[in-house]
Formats: sequence, C-alpha cells, structure tokens
Amino acid sequence: MKRVLVIHYSQTGQLTDVLGRITKPLVEAGIQVDQLPLRPEKPFLFPWSWTGFFNVFPECVGHDPIPLEPFEAPTEGPYDLVILGYTIWFLNPSLPTNAFLSHPRAPVLLNGRPVLTVIAPRNMWVMAQEYVRGRISAAGGKPVGNIAVVDRSGNLTSVITIIRWMFRGKKDPFLVFPRAGIRQEDIDGVARFGPIIAEHVKKGTIAELNPALLATGAARIAPTLLILERRALFVFGKWRRFILAKADRDPSSRIRRVKFFSRALPVLIFIVSPISGLSVRLMGLLRGARLRAEIARILTY
Ligand SMILES: Cc1cc2nc3c(=O)[nH]c(=O)nc-3n(C[C@H](O)[C@H](O)[C@H](O)COP(=O)(O)O)c2cc1C
Repeated sequence: MKRVLVIHYSQTGQLTDVLGRITKPLVEAGIQVDQLPLRPEKPFLFPWSWTGFFNVFPECVGHDPIPLEPFEAPTEGPYDLVILGYTIWFLNPSLPTNAFLSHPRAPVLLNGRPVLTVIAPRNMWVMAQEYVRGRISAAGGKPVGNIAVVDRSGNLTSVITIIRWMFRGKKDPFLVFPRAGIRQEDIDGVARFGPIIAEHVKKGTIAELNPALLATGAARIAPTLLILERRALFVFGKWRRFILAKADRDPSSRIRRVKFFSRALPVLIFIVSPISGLSVRLMGLLRGARLRAEIARILTY
C-alpha cells in the first residue's frame, strides 16, 4: 500500500481545509494518508492582539525557531510522498513551519523522501518557498513540486479583509469588501490536484508530478509581485535589526519598537506601496524577459 504523510500547521483551519480537499481523492484511491499536525509549545491565540501579531515579526524574518510539542509520524518506515502544508507569516514560512524545518527530527522524516509543498497564504509566497525548498533539500528531502492557493482579491483589498479576519476573527463580506481569505470556489477547486497526485504516487512517477500540476494551474507568479516581495524582504531585514537593536540591554525597547513598526507598516503598505507599485510595473516591463526566465526556474522542480 502506498503511503503519504501530511505535515502542516494551520491556525484558523483554512490550510487544513485545503489539504483535506487535496488528499481526499488519495484516500479514495486506496492510498494511506497520515497526518502530522505541528503544535507550538505555546499556542498562538486567534484572533490576534494587535501587538501580539506584530511581535512575531522579528522571529519570522530571522527564521528563529520556536519550541514545538514533540512530534512523530503516525507509522514507521519511509513514506512514498511527504506533503508539507504551510502558510506565510511576514513573507516567510509561519513560525511553526520554520521550527519544523530547523528541528533535528526533520531529516528523519524528510531524508530521501519526495516532498510536495502546499501553500495557502494571502498572496505573497515566492521568496518563502525558495527558502523552504532550500531547507527541505538541506534535510535530505527532494522537493518535487508546489501548489500555491492564494486570495485572488487585489493586494490592498486583501490586506483590509485579512486585518479584520486576523484581529476580529471576522471572515464575512462587509461594505464593499469580499469575504476574507481564499475564495470558496478556489478552495473547492483544489480537489482537482488530488487525482493527479494519486496517479503519480501509485505509478511511482513522482518526477512527472510538477509539470502535471502546473498544467492545471497549481502555481502562478506575477512578475510585479516578485519584485515587490524582494523589496519588502529587504526592508523587513532592516526593521528586524531596528526592533532587536537594543533588546539585549533593554528588553522593553523591543515592544516599544514593535508598536512603532505596527503603526508604520500600514502606512508603508497603503501609501508607499501604491507609489512604488508604479516603479515596480516599470521594472516589470524593462526586465520582462529576465523575470519570466526567473519565474520559469522557480516553478521548475
Ligand atoms: C502573523 C501573520 C503574518 C502573515 N503574513 C503574511 C504575508 O506576509 N503574506 C501572505 O501572503 N500572507 C500572510 N499571512 C496570512 C497567512 O499566510 C494565512 O493565509 C492565514 O494566516 C490563514 O492561515 P491558517 O490556515 O493558518 O489559518 C499572515 C498571517 C499571520 C498570522
């Protein structure tokens, strides 16, 4: 019997829902699907407090591990495929995901195994996936493909709806804004990936999995979003250094600086990002060929 291990962390259950729909056809095809949910020792509360949300920023950007509850695969022996489902926090893998990737037990589960990643973020996942891909390889795993299901609303619209969702726990449509998170039709639509994965697991043709997934729209990268992510990551590195600069000598300085950052980031997103959006679009036009080549490389496994 073929066996698949699903490792994941989902805070509100959106990613769990996505993974459940992807793996249901595998179970129906007679494949054993085992679950390994990651649990932080200190759970992250939902909805978030304003400061609590921004206070995880430095560790997200610095890829600093947090303690996880002990974890084991439900059954012994190597799996035919590992699915690593994760979300993005501040352009990086969520803290529990990062903790797993730097955990001494990660190589035990990943070494020599094909690993398919499934990401369910707002819309910015590309640079995080490059990092995760490197960590999977460093643990001896073989990245074989990626599915990214995103919120298709405009960038600023999804920022507003996600803020209401994360801080008030409200996902429903309001005023002119749509429901927060990934659209229901897109969540339902991920079921199409299941039979493709099942077929390649059963036939042992995992190397052909990613092209088959891409042909059904498993991951798309907008050149402008790629430039925007790079810029934002560069700026995030500077903010992390600023927030932690005096934290050793004066621990209260961290929270003061996090509060300052929490006020500055919305300004950066709503005022600076539309302005820089213009130069991003210009760069996208000027560097079109180079960006397309880069995107093709990122999407190839
Ligand atoms: C602290 C935090 C930071 C986030 N930052 C980003 C981000 O930079 N880019 C993005 O696309 N989504 C971001 N999100 C949204 C998540 O990737 C995810 O879609 C959302 O938290 C729901 O996932 P869940 O399945 O864990 O509930 C962030 C969420 C949290 C809690």
